[in-house]
Amino acid sequence: MKVLLVGNGAREHAIGWKLAASPRVDELMSLPGNPGLAGLGPVVEGISPTDIGAIAAMARVQGVDLVVVGPEVPLASGVVDAVEALGIPAFGPTRAAARLESSKRFAKEVMARAGVATAVSDTFSEPEPVIEHLAGRDGPFVVKADGLAAGKGVLVTDDRNEAVSWADRWLPEGPVVVEEFLDGPEVSVFAVCTEKGAAPLEPARDYKRLRDRDEGPNTGGMGAFSPVDDLPDGLLEETMHTVVEPTLATMAEMGHVFHGFLYAGLVLTREGPKVLEFNVRLGDPETQAILPRMETDLLDVLEGKTPEWSGAAAVNVVLAADGYPEAPVGGSVITGLDSMPSDVHVFHAGTRRDGKRILVDGGRVLSLVGVGDTIEQARDRAYEAASVVRWPGMQYRTDIGS
Ligand code: AMP
Ligand code: GLY
Repeated sequence: MKVLLVGNGAREHAIGWKLAASPRVDELMSLPGNPGLAGLGPVVEGISPTDIGAIAAMARVQGVDLVVVGPEVPLASGVVDAVEALGIPAFGPTRAAARLESSKRFAKEVMARAGVATAVSDTFSEPEPVIEHLAGRDGPFVVKADGLAAGKGVLVTDDRNEAVSWADRWLPEGPVVVEEFLDGPEVSVFAVCTEKGAAPLEPARDYKRLRDRDEGPNTGGMGAFSPVDDLPDGLLEETMHTVVEPTLATMAEMGHVFHGFLYAGLVLTREGPKVLEFNVRLGDPETQAILPRMETDLLDVLEGKTPEWSGAAAVNVVLAADGYPEAPVGGSVITGLDSMPSDVHVFHAGTRRDGKRILVDGGRVLSLVGVGDTIEQARDRAYEAASVVRWPGMQYRTDIGS
């Protein structure tokens, strides 16, 4: 079978690695791909991941049997609709169903109808009501852009004036959501949703802040580990029954059947788990720590088989470029990749090949994933690998999984 994978991050490299391991996958093509994915099969050049018509046409011309979509932007653009319209199976939600992620307002509406616990929120299109609303509350304040913003569309602050000016800045771009602050540890829960029903993946925890001890600015994610051992008993079953199943039922009632990965970002508050956000895809950097633990063929899982898991632990340490997240600096030569321990997974993200050399070409550059019997062992493997890789200004957290 010929599979086309859309995306170019370390999440997609991990998905591609796992798909390529399936005995049923003869060829794995990626679009736009990266130097890691290029080692697994042909990379399609010259088509943008949001040019959904061109992707669908290419899939037909190439005789692709299945399209798998990693990131949210092509999903929100309707790539699944376009591919399925040509009769080619695609894994991921339709454009209408992807609004669970691409519109926070839509997600809140679905959660309200489905009775899913989430932060109380209000949506605003004008500055004055935001000021009035914030004036009547105590911090911390949470202000969000309504649409997709690649992790940059959220401000959490104790400073009311900062919250107001942030809202002022975003309002010209679109509606702004002000929501209740949820207090507690976070965990990412994923369900694979197919015609056969919904099955959970193993949870993971990611690290959003740039620097150790959760300091510095929010990023796309600086690392992750799985399994997560401080979860309340039965959390996964509870999340399936109180979050995933009612959400899927409500989406179906609304005429937007959801197929694909449903990602619930949960906060474990004192009143129980509450949904911080839905995403309609796997998490990055969580996927890189989850898939090495999956024992089932990923292609079977996408077709509705309940996945089984190894007892191993995995820790993903993200290596980021100088200047990330504000202004990543590209072009440096990455050294040390030839001396990686063979049992560490090296997933590429913001890299580019230049002859024999691999250059930095993005914010999050590489994911190094150590696997071991315990989180400590997995972490040691990942950090040992990290100490071998170098380029000027390389940044990484030293506390992933500690
Ligand atoms: P998001 O882009 O929605 O994933 O938000 C990024 C991060 O901001 C989350 O991982 C949380 O740490 C924090 N955050 C977002 N919304 C809230 C909230 N309502 N309460 C507390 N923290 C939040
Ligand atoms: N891990 C955060 C995200 O994928 O959105």
